[in-house]
Amino acid sequence: MPRTLLGATPADDLLRLIPVDLGWRPRPREAGREMVVEASAAPRHLTGVRPRPAAAVPGDDPATSTVAAPVLAFRKVSRDYRSAGGAVLRALREASGEVGAGEVVAVTGRSGSGKSTLLHLAAGIDAPSGGEVLLLGRPLAALSDGERTRLRRDHVGLVFQFFHLLPHLSALENVLVPALVAGDPPAVSEDRGRALLGRVGLAGRAGEPVQKLSGGELQRVALCRALLRRPGLLLADEPTGNLDEESGRAVLDLLLGLARDEGSAVLYVTHSAELAAAADRIWTLHSGVLERTR
Ligand SMILES: Nc1ncnc2c1ncn2[C@@H]1O[C@H](COP(=O)(O)OP(=O)(O)OP(=O)(O)O)[C@@H](O)[C@H]1O
Ligand SMILES: [Mg+2]
Repeated sequence: MPRTLLGATPADDLLRLIPVDLGWRPRPREAGREMVVEASAAPRHLTGVRPRPAAAVPGDDPATSTVAAPVLAFRKVSRDYRSAGGAVLRALREASGEVGAGEVVAVTGRSGSGKSTLLHLAAGIDAPSGGEVLLLGRPLAALSDGERTRLRRDHVGLVFQFFHLLPHLSALENVLVPALVAGDPPAVSEDRGRALLGRVGLAGRAGEPVQKLSGGELQRVALCRALLRRPGLLLADEPTGNLDEESGRAVLDLLLGLARDEGSAVLYVTHSAELAAAADRIWTLHSGVLERTR
């Protein structure tokens, strides 16, 4: 992608809108700016364009490693928020659960029950008040900022309710942003980006500015962007929440179909019992308490 295109994008927007590809540095939300973003300063390595086993732990020797770690594990994870008046709100209470390689888990629960908090902790966007979160077997809290950034950039894809695409870029350019940031070879990434857009029925719209696309089409572009670098884990916070029932169902089917084909594990949030039923397993949150209901 020509750099000039992104040159027209306010840097702050770019950083805010594709945080997971750049790597978010977890900071207490109380610290002022809600989220601080930092591009990795590490040497560019080009792992992202090669298929990799979903549960591979970076640094592990496959010859000696016999048991695959879960892609994601929560171990008695709590998250407390402190109000200005000093009251403590327990958004998560000792939540435990694992997502295995290629496994699909739906998270349901009422508004305010802690679903987004759980996803933010999984991505390392936020840090727990207690317990630990392991991504590919590695405790996020024990990693340096650079290690956490690379782990997230290379192994996690994110899909949001409101798409978070860059409006003046084309569908293909939006899909390719994570590869540009990671320094992947442009030709290989573009082939993969076009192939993904083809898989979601948007081959003919690749050059279209995303401003011209419908909600369901935008979410499909966002899905391609999240899968571009073959993440072992796809995190989706109400990916169909802004779509009508029919488009929502179609996007979820695509999301799960693509993730299964690619071997990506998925943790997705939904309010809909019907959409949750499409998962291998269901976690339900009740006021921060995680219950594994299936
Ligand atoms: N930065 C914050 N500061 C204080 N409280 C917060 C903060 N973020 C979330 N909360 C509170 O934590 C609880 C869980 O919030 P969370 O966003 O995880 O809920 P949710 O299940 O995703 O809800 P929804 O379905 O409405 O998106 C809520 O009571 C919310 O008000
Ligand atoms: Mg939420």
